Parts: sequence; C-alpha cells; structure tokens
Amino acid sequence: KKLAPQPDNDKTTSLAPHTADALGEKMTTNTGLPINDDQNSLKAGERGPSLLEDFIFREKMTHFDHERIPERVVHARGSGAHGVFKLYEPIPELTKAGFLNDAEIETPVFVRFSTVAGSRGSTDLARDVRGFAVRFYTQEGNFDLVGNNMPVFFIQDAIKFPDLVHAVKPEPDNEIPQAASAHDTFWDFISLTPESAHMVMWLMSDRAIPRSYRMMEGFGVHTFRFVNAEGVASFVKFIWKPLLGVHSVAWDEAQNISGKDPDFHRRDLWDAIESGAYPEYELCVQIVPEEDEFKYDFDLLDATKIIPEELVPVQRIGKMTLNRNPDNFFAETEQIAFHLGHVVPGIDFTNDPLLQGRLFSYTDTQLTRLGGPNFQEIPINRPVVPVHNNQRDGFMRQTINKGKTSYNPNSLSGNDPQQVKAAEGGFVSYLERIEARKMRAKSKSFFDHFSQARLFFNSQSEPEKNHLIDALTFELGKVKTVMVRERMLGILAQIDKGLAAQVAFGLGLHIPEALPVNQHVPADGDPADYQSIQVE
Ligand code: HEM
Repeated sequence: KKLAPQPDNDKTTSLAPHTADALGEKMTTNTGLPINDDQNSLKAGERGPSLLEDFIFREKMTHFDHERIPERVVHARGSGAHGVFKLYEPIPELTKAGFLNDAEIETPVFVRFSTVAGSRGSTDLARDVRGFAVRFYTQEGNFDLVGNNMPVFFIQDAIKFPDLVHAVKPEPDNEIPQAASAHDTFWDFISLTPESAHMVMWLMSDRAIPRSYRMMEGFGVHTFRFVNAEGVASFVKFIWKPLLGVHSVAWDEAQNISGKDPDFHRRDLWDAIESGAYPEYELCVQIVPEEDEFKYDFDLLDATKIIPEELVPVQRIGKMTLNRNPDNFFAETEQIAFHLGHVVPGIDFTNDPLLQGRLFSYTDTQLTRLGGPNFQEIPINRPVVPVHNNQRDGFMRQTINKGKTSYNPNSLSGNDPQQVKAAEGGFVSYLERIEARKMRAKSKSFFDHFSQARLFFNSQSEPEKNHLIDALTFELGKVKTVMVRERMLGILAQIDKGLAAQVAFGLGLHIPEALPVNQHVPADGDPADYQSIQVE
C-alpha cells in the first residue's frame, strides 16, 4: 500500500488494465487451468523419478528459465518514477510543440535515472555520469529527452562511442573493476582522446557523486532545434534544475555509503515518493537564434561544449513533479525504451555528429534488448494517443490489425491510415539547407579541447578544486601503466599547470615535457586525407 497519495494521470490510467493483482484469486496455469499443487512435481511414485508429462512443472520452470533479458549495454542500472510536467507559460514564439503551448494541461512523464558503466546490480555511489532520461507522453506522441547529469560528453562523434564504452567498462579479461573509471583502459583511451578533457573535469569533480537523484541537474547535452508554427527555428539546450538544489557527497562518504547500502539512490527516490516528498525539477532552456549560429568561439554542434549561462540566460519554462512509484520494476523501469528520435512537431535535431549517431543506436540496441520490432507495444512504451500505421507482424505482436490491406497507396480499403498534413500536426523535418561534399572529417571549430575544461576548473571553489585533484590522484593512482599516467599528466597540464603539478606530486611523477598526446594512434584519422583534396 502506498503511503502518500500517488495520483493517476493519463499514462498510469492506461497502464492499469495491464496490471494484475492476484490477491485472493485462484492459481492457474498460463492457459487458465486451475492448479491443484505447484509445490510437488509429478513423479512415478513418492520416491520415483519426475515425469516429462508434468506440464505444470515445465511451464513454471520454462518461464523462470527465460526471466532475464539483456541488460542495457550502457546505463544498465537505473531507477524509475512516474510524474507530471506542467508548463509555466506557452512559448509559441519558440516552438509549436503542443505540450509547450498549453499551461493548463499536465503531461504525464516517466523518468529513469541511471549510472552508466556498472551492471544492473552495481552500486549507486560509483564515480560515474548519471543518466536523466525523461519521457513526456504528449497528445502528439512520446517525446523523450534522454539526458545526463553533466552538460557535455566525452566524444564529439558517435562513431567513437563503442571505443569509449569498451574502455570504460570492466576490462575484458577479468571483468574488473565494476562500475569505476579507475583503471588502465579508461585512462588510456581518455589520455589519447583530448576532446574528452572537459567531460573528465566534470567526472572527477563532486558532480559525479550526487547526494540524491532528487538533487542533481539534467542536461540534454546536444543543441536541439525548436521550430515554431511559422517554420522559424532556433537552437535550444535543455536543462533540468532540481528544486532541492544540487548536492553531492564527498568521496569517503560515497565509499562508506556504498559499502553499507549500494541501493542508496534507488531507496532515496522510492522513499521520498512513498512519503509524499515528491522530487521536483524545473525544465529550462537556453535559446540561440538561428542567425547567431556562428557567434561563439565554440561550435554549437560540439557536444563537448556548454553554452555558458553568462552568454545565454537560462529560462525556466515548466516544472516536473515525480509523484508515483512504478508498480513493477521490470515491466516499467526495465522495459522502457528511450530514444532521442522520439520527437514531436516543433522539436527537431541539429547536425551534432554525436546526436546524429545516437539517432541510430537506441532503436538498434532495443531490437535485441526487448526482443524484436514490437517493443513499442509494451505498455510503458505505448503513447497515450492511438497508433495507426501499416507496420505488421513480427515476434510478440499484440495488436490484431483488421482488414486486408497494409500498404500505401491503396484503393481497396477505406480503413487505411491517412498521412497528416503539416498544418494539421503531421511531423515535417526542418527544411535546413545543406550544400556539402561527403567526407570523414572533423570541423576545425571542434578543435579547442581545453578552454572550457579550464573554465570548469576555474569555476570550482578551493575545496571543490581539492576534491578534483584528490579524485584524479586516486584514479590515476590505480592505473598500472606509467606511460598512461604520464600522458594524462600531459593533458592536465594543457588544462591547468597547477592542477597537473599537484596531481603529479600526488603520484610521485613529473609532468612530461611536450608529450605528443596522440603518439600511438592517429585517433582522428589523418586530416591530410581530406584536406589535400582539391576543391574547386
Ligand atoms: C542509454 C547509446 C551518448 C544518455 C543508451 C543505450 C545505448 C546508448 C545503446 C542503451 C539503450 C537501451 O538499451 O535502451 C549511446 C550512444 C551515444 C550515447 C551511441 C553517443 C554516440 C549519450 C549521451 C547521453 C546519453 C550524450 C546524454 C545526453 C543516455 C541515457 C541512457 C542511455 C540517459 C539510459 C536510458 C534509460 O534510462 O533507459 N545510450 N548513448 N547517451 N543513454 Fe546513451
């Protein structure tokens, strides 16, 4: 029984018919046969062998044998909650998205917070990035804002993501360490990937060990695009600000708590909602008009950069309240399939090469994780609006589509779904003009890896700086390969000489002189390959 009121909304009401509560009910097989005994298998005599005929045993065991599905390849450990989002004021000048234009409606949401590197059973207290994924069940379909608690990312191009994750996950021979970045492969990759410098500053800071999921920010990271009813676009960064403020624990506190209660964040979120202390976050945006695309000394398409709040103010546009715990962890928190390709009219993408690659990866992985092409029919994934299209069949299809035809165009059936004109809410991609040559390339505007890493370091208070230095010293102290430690000191020296000197002192090493960071692999390919091409 829930302690505090846990209000229903359109989404939780739509889940209700799928829930089952067997209190006082007859026990049956999956075919509805009343079961007389599910504790003794069918045997040849009291002490005899079990019989293959025992369909009750077989059904029970077979289902159990298949209870596990693959955990998420990243963000495997998470906790979810239902809630609602309410807009403060309509923003038609920025976007035509329906849920951002009506301050009267409450849009149902489901949120999943997560760690990134550890497996499903790993500790909540790891020094790691936290996922902050929000699904809005809007009247125009699901909109997923799949963010993290840090505003930047390790890499600029999605094609590097498998390398990053292979480096950060436990090492392949011994599967050590669980949920920690303090190991050789992670720092080897990082020290060879200078674009990660800014993110690593965040990761080594107190931001990486939140006090609670209720007390951390969320960031969409990429620059997205708003489009209004006139077709005018602007760039937008999404930010969640917790009304309880941002709080972290210190490293020794994290280690103590982790040992005593590895479910600390999960329990905190659950208990807060059960007791009626509903977590609240304001949705904020930073808006850059389309004509200001090249105004800054960083590229808006580079996911390793923030837009400093001093340059573009943060506007608070609405509030999310998490007011209901899931009924079933697996059915809801585990089976939800977020994807930043789930957009609504008025919200669109940019050409950020990290964003573009993510648009492929999520559905692709979910096809395996959730067993085929019909996972959008799982109750937690269904939108609150009806779904009609010509997609058919496949493993575990739930919908019984009527009629003979499932193609378009067709002249035989009056039942086929009709395409929707843009003026009536049909999604139309933003008409961005593109004139380009194909190339595997990185824009020069992506080359400055250290200015914002330095900006972040300098923004820290003295105690925070000390924590960051301690974290780097601790983490690099776990790295066995001296060359990797030294190369990393070379990177730190490019961020801040004092920082590098203190970490070097802690490690008992010297900062290497002008160590070329990429002496082993040309991590970004050879620019000469495309720069030498004669372009008329
Ligand atoms: C989960 C890929 C970058 C936030 C995932 C999953 C994949 C993935 C495959 C597992 C999804 C599932 O099994 O349902 C990638 C790729 C990236 C990338 C290829 C870069 C190229 C990012 C970034 C963010 C992010 C930059 C934050 C802005 C998340 C979150 C989840 C997730 C929050 C967990 C979603 C959940 O709770 O179910 N990512 N990711 N990812 N990713 Fe990413």
